[in-house]
Amino acid sequence: MTSPTPKMNTSRPKISIIGAGNVGATCAHWAAAKELGDIVVLDIPDKVGVAQGKMLDLACCGPIERFDSNIIGTSDYADIAGSDVVVVTAGLPRKPGMSRDDLIETNVKIVKSVSENIKKYAPDSIVIVVSNPLDAMVYTAWKATGFPTNRIMGQAGALDVARYRTFLAWEIGCSVEDVQALLLGGHGDDMVPLPRLTSVHGIPVTSLLDEATITACVERAKVGGGEVVKLMGTSAYYAPASGTIQMVEAIIKDKKRIIPSAVFCDKEFGGAAKGYFVGVPALLGKGGVEKVVDFAFEGGEKALFDESVSHVQDLVGIVTKMFPELA
Ligand code: NAI
Ligand code: 2OP
Repeated sequence: MTSPTPKMNTSRPKISIIGAGNVGATCAHWAAAKELGDIVVLDIPDKVGVAQGKMLDLACCGPIERFDSNIIGTSDYADIAGSDVVVVTAGLPRKPGMSRDDLIETNVKIVKSVSENIKKYAPDSIVIVVSNPLDAMVYTAWKATGFPTNRIMGQAGALDVARYRTFLAWEIGCSVEDVQALLLGGHGDDMVPLPRLTSVHGIPVTSLLDEATITACVERAKVGGGEVVKLMGTSAYYAPASGTIQMVEAIIKDKKRIIPSAVFCDKEFGGAAKGYFVGVPALLGKGGVEKVVDFAFEGGEKALFDESVSHVQDLVGIVTKMFPELA
């Protein structure tokens, strides 16, 4: 007698997630809950039982949560074939006292080998990198897959801006849905929130909150990841996964959403980030990154952006020094 198994050959969109840890499994959870497509979660052979167990557990939520998504855990890259989107969450997370940058050497090795497999088994996919340090890992995935820049991006801004919006809404006392905001730069503590472009349905936040309160929200968003690590001993995963699946949804449904994402920059923003993957507003749809949405900086914004970009450049410099084949 054979055991019942999900049939993965549907015409639904296919989302593969590499890494069945906290962020990967939670990405699968949000993607299933939104019924975005069939889902494959892959981990290393030693952890295949974890991947399979978590996904079996998640699949059995379908009748209750009302989603028809076939969901499997695996360690076999052949299972990611035909993926529309591949999310890379493989890698070590931060522990208390570590910065995202402390993960660089180990995670470059992991993301490089994962990317080579994506190139081999899902050559037409769009890749969203989540592993840290994010800006260096997106670069690594780009070099190791050789994919065009519209099909490689990193998740950071979706999360960072959600944190910023949450803290502002708590201060204003309004719904989190009603706060619109934008963040630029790398996924580091020098990310660049823009109070000038933050509003509640167009009402500038600067006319709703005093400068000190806005600054406190900005500063808390900047170190939001570290705050969670300090509290629970490992890095956040609900909001990171939620931000990632917001990007997946924009692509799968061709929504043309403008989401701050780590994408390849050229002449936008005066060429300040030319040749690097940096957090900027990106229009996401079926073609992946369909456009970088450019605008003119004001006041001290350019200096903050330049500083954040220079940190991204330093990180990429470390990667190419350690791994000259990625230069
Ligand atoms: P975790 O430790 O819970 O899960 C990582 C998983 O990756 C593990 O199951 C591990 O077995 C797997 N893995 C390791 N090497 C692999 C390989 N070669 N192939 C396939 N799977 C492999 O870690 P968590 O919390 O899920 O974080 C994952 C990554 O995401 C970390 O680098 C973390 O820093 C990063 N992160 C990034 C965020 C962002 O906003 N960009 C936010 C939160 C975490
Ligand atoms: C975060 O911002 C650690 O990048 C992760 O939560």
